[in-house]
Amino acid sequence: MLIFAVESSCDETAVALVEDGRRVLADEIFSQVALHEIYGGVVPEIAARSHLEVISLLADRALDKAGASRRDIDAVACTYAPGLIGAVLVGVNFAKSAALALGVPLVPVHHIRGHIAANYLAYPDLEPPFLCLAISGGNTMLVDVRGYTDMSILGLTRDDAAGECFDKSARVMGLGYPGGKPIDELSQRGDDRAYELPRPSVNGANPYDMSFSGLKTAVVNIAHHAEQTGQPLDKPGLAASLCRAVSETLVGRTMAAARALGYKNVAVAGGVAANSRIRADFEAACAREGRRLFVPPLRLCGDNAAMIGAQGYYEYLAGRTAGPDLNAYATMDL
Ligand code: KG4
Repeated sequence: MLIFAVESSCDETAVALVEDGRRVLADEIFSQVALHEIYGGVVPEIAARSHLEVISLLADRALDKAGASRRDIDAVACTYAPGLIGAVLVGVNFAKSAALALGVPLVPVHHIRGHIAANYLAYPDLEPPFLCLAISGGNTMLVDVRGYTDMSILGLTRDDAAGECFDKSARVMGLGYPGGKPIDELSQRGDDRAYELPRPSVNGANPYDMSFSGLKTAVVNIAHHAEQTGQPLDKPGLAASLCRAVSETLVGRTMAAARALGYKNVAVAGGVAANSRIRADFEAACAREGRRLFVPPLRLCGDNAAMIGAQGYYEYLAGRTAGPDLNAYATMDL
């Protein structure tokens, strides 16, 4: 079954052609980073307008690259939540029109379910059940994936997402936007014990919940203090200390959940899963405890439409299709 998939929830316009949820025939991504960089973050109106400008071109290019024609498409899948509402609407309306014009089913996909499904593309043998930590710019959640469309949240951040903590920390360190990658690169030559940063904890709460705003504030305070007192800021050391603090929290919560629920298979997904410290720490922790780790290659960690095509296939099999009245939503339960 060939699925034409669309993703436009934030600052990447993406379309893909995916066969049977596992084989990617085309995967086109247009990144808007250059458009938003000057503002230090994503400007929703600019994001929506840019999606509109390039989405049809990307669709044609994807069909070309796959050597497919419109008639080969069996269903259209799209991210319908969560995300920047104007941005998501562009993809949803494009997908609706395509499904209507082609006379094929329309399949709405939750963005985070898509991130989780990136692992099905990377690991053909991966099947639920498994535990998945989904970490991106806007979301941080630990998910009990019981089935392809049967999942629930075990824990989530009480405030900022891990990606936001990286992005805001990078901004105050003058590293630009998005900040996760430059922090990761800088951290490679830093001492991860250069700065004592707080480990987020949520008193009396669900043991798998997380919090990253205190950590973000600590980094901001360290940077401001250095600026105000004229003391040098050890940026590589701060980047490495931040990566260590974020990683210890994420890996600690995830492995505790894996032990408690008896999960042998542990997956990680989302843009922040590209972080080299987090990847290395997960590898070490899973090796130590005899669990198998699944983490997508870098290209499939960030936003892409191939993952929406993968999850869209399983949503379709579960009968979760929509009509032309499908709406877009800024927030939505998993
Ligand atoms: O999944 P994604 O592309 O978009 C959302 O759905 O949010 O994730 C983007 C986030 C940004 O916060 C970005 O700074 C972060 O992923 N990121 C990283 C790295 N690469 C991207 N964070 C830490 N280390 C990285 N190497």
